Amino acid sequence: LLLGPPPPPLESREIPTPAAAAAPTEEIDRRRNLAIISHPDSGKTTMTEKLLLYGGALQQAGAVRQKAEQRSTQSDFMEMERERGISISSTVMNFDYEGYRLNILDTPGHQDFSEDTYRALAAADNAIMLLDAAKGLEPQTRKLFEVCRLRGLPLFTFCNKMDRPALSPYELMDQIQEEFNLESFPVLWPIGDGDRFKGVLDRMEDVVHLYQKPVKRGGKAEVVLIPFNDTAKLRELINDEELYNKLIEDHELLNELIEPLDMDRVLDGELTPLFFGSAMTNFGVQLFLDKFLDMGTKPTSRDAFTKDTTDGSGNDDDTNIVSPQFQEFTGFVFKTQANLDPKHRDRLAYVRVVSGVYEKGMKVGHSRSKAGKKYNLAQAQALFGSDRSSIDVAYPGDVIGINNPGMFGIGDTLFTGADRVAFPGIPSFSPEKFCYIRSPNPSDYKSFRKGIDQLLQEGAIQALRQRNDDGGGPLMLAAVGELQFEVVQARLKNEYKVEALMEPLGYTLARWADGGWDAVDKADADGKLFGIMIVQDRWARPVLLFRNDWKASSLTEDEKDLQLSPWSQ
Ligand code: G4P
Repeated sequence: LLLGPPPPPLESREIPTPAAAAAPTEEIDRRRNLAIISHPDSGKTTMTEKLLLYGGALQQAGAVRQKAEQRSTQSDFMEMERERGISISSTVMNFDYEGYRLNILDTPGHQDFSEDTYRALAAADNAIMLLDAAKGLEPQTRKLFEVCRLRGLPLFTFCNKMDRPALSPYELMDQIQEEFNLESFPVLWPIGDGDRFKGVLDRMEDVVHLYQKPVKRGGKAEVVLIPFNDTAKLRELINDEELYNKLIEDHELLNELIEPLDMDRVLDGELTPLFFGSAMTNFGVQLFLDKFLDMGTKPTSRDAFTKDTTDGSGNDDDTNIVSPQFQEFTGFVFKTQANLDPKHRDRLAYVRVVSGVYEKGMKVGHSRSKAGKKYNLAQAQALFGSDRSSIDVAYPGDVIGINNPGMFGIGDTLFTGADRVAFPGIPSFSPEKFCYIRSPNPSDYKSFRKGIDQLLQEGAIQALRQRNDDGGGPLMLAAVGELQFEVVQARLKNEYKVEALMEPLGYTLARWADGGWDAVDKADADGKLFGIMIVQDRWARPVLLFRNDWKASSLTEDEKDLQLSPWSQ
């Protein structure tokens, strides 16, 4: 699954700088950072919009969508995304709600862009898994869940579309248990589904929230609260004998079967708090938001390599834990993007702040830069979908956009202080799609190259070339999904005004030969590389392209000297 030729580290030297300020505890405590994962069509766009609505960041749900007359929200902004109604690039939205600062890391739903989602999850502290309650777990939820588990993220599950006929909540719990080996703790429990969806029981408070119908699609839901033990009132207002009896039965059964909520297990990703609702009609969304803010984790500590200068040697790489309270500023780049705003034609690096305080104009070191070079973070921006505004200060958990003249890559760390800090790189997925790309108009060649170079820097696609090609030969692109090529083509046209012709190649797998070119030559001379394409990556490292898994595995077995791996070591 995972690959990455991470960029080779560059030499660095320590530059002592005055100690920066630690972030104020109350600023750290009020931050909640979350990513929503889901299979396409489960309602992620709708849910995001409703969260923004409750947070006051949008005046009217659906407003943006209506204005564009096509499916699009604040978080879907590229041309192709609008045309196709798919969310391609992860973006960030932040807003204040009830004293909290929320940072929502939006993630593309389509599987061809899983890698972007993976990176957003690297920057998140909490994940929300959104399910279509009629469908339960779907392929993309499965894949993304694995990533959450790898990262050990606390996972909150919201079963959406309860206003439609749904699977039984027990069935949904079983699926999560059986497939993910993950226990769920129902925080909310639905009363009915489809046309008979009446509301939810809040098991933490033992209060029933009944929704007043009809709820206007764009507005906030009107709710009646009834204590669970006020049975007469409950029975009267539910006004459906079967559902009332079922609720009484479920209430008892759940209290018997389900252990009390153990928050430590939630924070360790072993137990998922479970919610039910309907994003479209606003059932349960605010309740979910309130509970999430209470239960979700604030910005967490992260492992990092630090070059420890305290022993005087200046070259010991130690693993350390960087806590949000650490007084130096540290952060890492999890996404880069060119031409976010076509008018400005600039490039942005999205930085997740891990510790300390970002202050306008501060100078930072860069994990891969040499000789203690410092960069001035003059103009960080707060991002909100395609909108952005200048900010003077940011705290752990925040995501800031900084100008990227080209040297900041995915996974790079920025830091202040005497000690070099490097968070572990963010691995990328092994490419499975390959194509040649060229410009049909020789006069466009310069713009074509510039566009390709800038899009490559975003890291979603990789370039491969023939061996010993120093730039003049045919250019090959490698990606995880076909749609990524289409995005390149569309963006070259929209942002750089050039056409691109693409010719797909029938390879499905790339393996880096860490044994080097000598090992490749030897295997080739022995006739072992028949039918395999030999290319090089941007650092001239040998890469072999295969048509199928079988060929790759047998070569891995037979030719140990090649040291084939799905990523470069
Ligand atoms: P996605 O980002 O996960 O792909 O999903 P999105 O929010 O775009 O929702 C997919 C479809 O599901 C949309 O319908 C949306 O209105 C609908 N939907 C979302 N939440 C709910 C819900 O709680 N209940 C019901 N019944 N439907 C929901 P569409 O027909 O594709 O678009 P639209 O015409 O409604 O905008």
